[in-house]
Amino acid sequence: MKPKILVTRATFGEIIDKLRERFDVDDNQKDDKPLIGDELRRRLADKDGVLSTGSDRIDAATLDAAPRLKAVCNNAVGYNNIDLAACTGRGVLATNTPGVLDDTTADTTWALLMAAARRITEGERWVRAGSWIEGWKHDRLLGQDVHHATLGVIGMGRIGQAIARRAAGFSMRVLYHNRTRASRTVEKALGARYVSLERLLRQSDFISLNLPYSPEAHHLIGAKQIDLMKPTAVLVNAARGGIVDDAALIAALKARRIAAAGLDVFEGEPRLNPGFFELDNVVMVPHIGSATRVTRLAMASVALRNLAAALSGRRPPSLLNPEVWPKRRR
Ligand code: DGY
Repeated sequence: MKPKILVTRATFGEIIDKLRERFDVDDNQKDDKPLIGDELRRRLADKDGVLSTGSDRIDAATLDAAPRLKAVCNNAVGYNNIDLAACTGRGVLATNTPGVLDDTTADTTWALLMAAARRITEGERWVRAGSWIEGWKHDRLLGQDVHHATLGVIGMGRIGQAIARRAAGFSMRVLYHNRTRASRTVEKALGARYVSLERLLRQSDFISLNLPYSPEAHHLIGAKQIDLMKPTAVLVNAARGGIVDDAALIAALKARRIAAAGLDVFEGEPRLNPGFFELDNVVMVPHIGSATRVTRLAMASVALRNLAAALSGRRPPSLLNPEVWPKRRR
């Protein structure tokens, strides 16, 4: 008998085919509607493993409804949707997909940064609206220079480093803040200087958030922190909603307290604070940081390898709770 798994959301056909070779698969390929509450618990009741996404809430109640569950394999690097302590307490292995989306997410961050700095989407909307009647004008859509400016990187993990590396091409000064200071070798390779959060906020022209969401990171950027930023500052968040206090950001953008923002993630997404829709100085995309075919396929393949290992008694490559390993459910 093959182990039973739930794949909570649609994925690539080749991934589903490979999963079917090993497992008895309950998938969501046709509807691809998020499974929530009772529906998720019902579908998990007889499963040995789950291939989840960042929007599936795997909390203690969900785990309690799945007594056979041995592995929760997230098809995402972020795992704030999983109650890791609850998994650990129940001997359930939890995994994510690190390493394969760093460059793609860094590219997205730069796309948001450039678009917000140079008012690209604002200009695009204006052209499409048929507003371009007069020719060239010296002061049309003036933005911020990116080259030779200061980039502040908050969270200098793999993605933060990939973002900082790209800054060299723009002759930028790079400041960073992180829970722990990077090694001298990394700092030297990136040309990045470690500073306090306050100094980073005060001195940076562009501020990129690249840290995981956690209760400690909740509203790390709120009204007080925005007040420290330059009036010309551009804030970019391709990390997680909730790290920024969206209401405070909207108020600051509206009052031109800072110049602009580029956002891939939002509090309560996909139901955004409606205040965003009234602003011209924000570039918004729908959580597509890792969305290239190559990267999304690589992420799904990592999740598949994690699940295959976990359900065949091998240690999954990206295990988040290694303390479970010797005491895992069998
Ligand atoms: C992640 O991997 O955490 C992304 O947010 C999902 O694409």
